[in-house]
Amino acid sequence: RIVYVDGHYGPESQGKVSIFDRGYLFADAIYEVTCIIGGKLVDFDGHMVRLVRSLKELDMPMPMSPQELLAIHRKLIADNNVDEGLIYMQISRGNADRDFNFPSKDTRPVIVMFTQARPVLESPLAKRGLKVITLPDIRWGRRDIKTVQLLYPSMAKNAAYEAGADDAWLVQDGFVTEASSANAYIVTVDGRIVTRGLSSDILHGITRAAVIGFAQEAGYVLKERPFTVAEALEAKEAFITSATSFVMSVLSVDGQMIGDGKIGPVSSRLREIYIDKAV
Ligand code: PDD
Repeated sequence: RIVYVDGHYGPESQGKVSIFDRGYLFADAIYEVTCIIGGKLVDFDGHMVRLVRSLKELDMPMPMSPQELLAIHRKLIADNNVDEGLIYMQISRGNADRDFNFPSKDTRPVIVMFTQARPVLESPLAKRGLKVITLPDIRWGRRDIKTVQLLYPSMAKNAAYEAGADDAWLVQDGFVTEASSANAYIVTVDGRIVTRGLSSDILHGITRAAVIGFAQEAGYVLKERPFTVAEALEAKEAFITSATSFVMSVLSVDGQMIGDGKIGPVSSRLREIYIDKAV
């Protein structure tokens, strides 16, 4: 694989960052994951808008223009001949002696990018549907900033696997915030789609924004409000969205079947619409 590290393209074996990278020492870095279908980026502009916001919230400079970042994405997709999968981009505050204070403003951000080929449209999980468990959401209070501080989501997903499930839904004060790396939704018995509104409690998903728009266009009633685990257990359907999963049905929560425990009509329709319109 050819990767991009701090201005250079090269084989992944040579893609190395400094031990002084602030991303490595302090998780002082932000990232974006964009989906690739048919060699093309899905919703790149949305990811770029969120990237600019994450950088701003952390007082980090935009290291190059969106057009230049797009050119690197495109070159990596071409050089690696990726038809379907994802591309990861990380921007850290740069290299500096270990100090809790931010380094001087002229510290050069370090950009890293690599591709991962994998099936998205025909993903086995999308066909089967997900089992999720619930876990307390003990992440920090700025989940709207897409930082690489991913230890707890990683632990949560691992705990889900150990429990025989596929993912975890995180819960704060009885209400679901989101999944370990996706936004969470239920469909109520009266057919309304419910998902938590935007705040610093959740990541402002790019797929979420697109799917909400498409759902409303298609005539679904959508409410942005927090929902409890109890409501999820009584729901007709549940699902998640993210750049790498698109829309995936959730079949059970904490071992309890949602609706009839099969992929529901709303989530399968939304997946179709998303693929039709966004890809
Ligand atoms: N994760 N919530 C969290 C906590 C996430 O990490 C993600 C994305 C989402 C969905 O956002 P989007 O639709 O913009 O992908 C919601 C990416 C895919 C990841 O970390 O791999």
